[in-house]
Amino acid sequence: MAIRYELIKECKQSGARLGRIHTPHGTIDTPIFMPVGTQATVKTMSPEELKEMDAQIILSNTYHLFLRPGHEIVKEAGGLHSFMNWDRAILTDSGGFQVFSLSQLRKITEEGVSFRSHLSGEKLFIGPEKAMEIQNALGSDIMMAFDECPPYPAEREYVEASTERTYRWAKRCIAAHQRPDEQALFGIVQGGMFRDLRERSARQLVDLDLPGYAVGGLSVGEPKELMYEVLSYTTPLLPKDKPRYLMGVGSPDALIQGAIYGIDMFDCVLPTRIARNGTTMTSQGRLVIRNAKFARDFTPLDPNCDCYTCRNYTRAYLRHLIKADETLGIRLTSYHNLYFLLKLMKQVRRAIQEDRLLDFQNEFMLQYYGSLT
Ligand code: GUN
Ligand code: ZN
Repeated sequence: MAIRYELIKECKQSGARLGRIHTPHGTIDTPIFMPVGTQATVKTMSPEELKEMDAQIILSNTYHLFLRPGHEIVKEAGGLHSFMNWDRAILTDSGGFQVFSLSQLRKITEEGVSFRSHLSGEKLFIGPEKAMEIQNALGSDIMMAFDECPPYPAEREYVEASTERTYRWAKRCIAAHQRPDEQALFGIVQGGMFRDLRERSARQLVDLDLPGYAVGGLSVGEPKELMYEVLSYTTPLLPKDKPRYLMGVGSPDALIQGAIYGIDMFDCVLPTRIARNGTTMTSQGRLVIRNAKFARDFTPLDPNCDCYTCRNYTRAYLRHLIKADETLGIRLTSYHNLYFLLKLMKQVRRAIQEDRLLDFQNEFMLQYYGSLT
């Protein structure tokens, strides 16, 4: 077994789980947030900076690395860890999701997905076997099964057929996986917003006895309440002794609520994406640093933050850098936003330890959003 999940305790107030995942590249404290490094880099951040902010695992993408530079080159470099100089854990997404959101002229068949590269226009194909070949070459600690994430909204008939195919693809992924002792393969529960399809998908995948499970197909445009409803009945169907990963979710409220529903891992481009247009997450809520009211504000971005950015620079300076399109500006806001979410997850873990996650949730929601919902 490549990884081992250790359940430390459950919060008496909320049911959230405190745990650890032991991987070939170190131990991860859960619940955890994974910064996204799509192209073998967390945009503008060096591995040293990621370590300094205490990132324990990052996510990267099969689809992008297959297109550029190509998994063969990464393999020749000694794998993704060595290629990008990151010696902590890495999770790779399978390409199932990105091929739908980024490529053109895709065509799904039982075999897999044919598509045109969004970079070169070249005709390419990824199916379950190819997704495993690429991820085995990358050498990530956790790899994801090749799946289809149905759009929202979608007809029940379509979602049912797609979810069944995702299950058949998962079985092909298991058969094609070459390095199960070094890389853990996670299954992805689909089923759209249909309770019985979610239940069937979870049951089928759990029967395959994979080392971990993700909940996919959420945060695709549905109302947040609906996402929480799906989570509320899906996570209880997953094994207690394995990690659970909610894909593509990273707003502060959803990280806390997801943990309450028993989720252990999250990833999202949100902190780094909004940082690049100057939007920051602070202890008092979102702050848009471009705003004219910060022109002469010589205080730190977040007075309650002790990150490198907040210890050394003022709002007025950050505003100037962002407005002048200076690279340092987006580096400093990216650093702060990632630090903010990593620290939020530390607070969540501490609250679970102290059996007070619901109290923490109320305190945080009032501070950040100004209301409890
Ligand atoms: N990222 C966000 N949602 C999904 C999903 O449903 N499947 C995959 N593979 N990646 C995702
Ligand atoms: Zn900060």
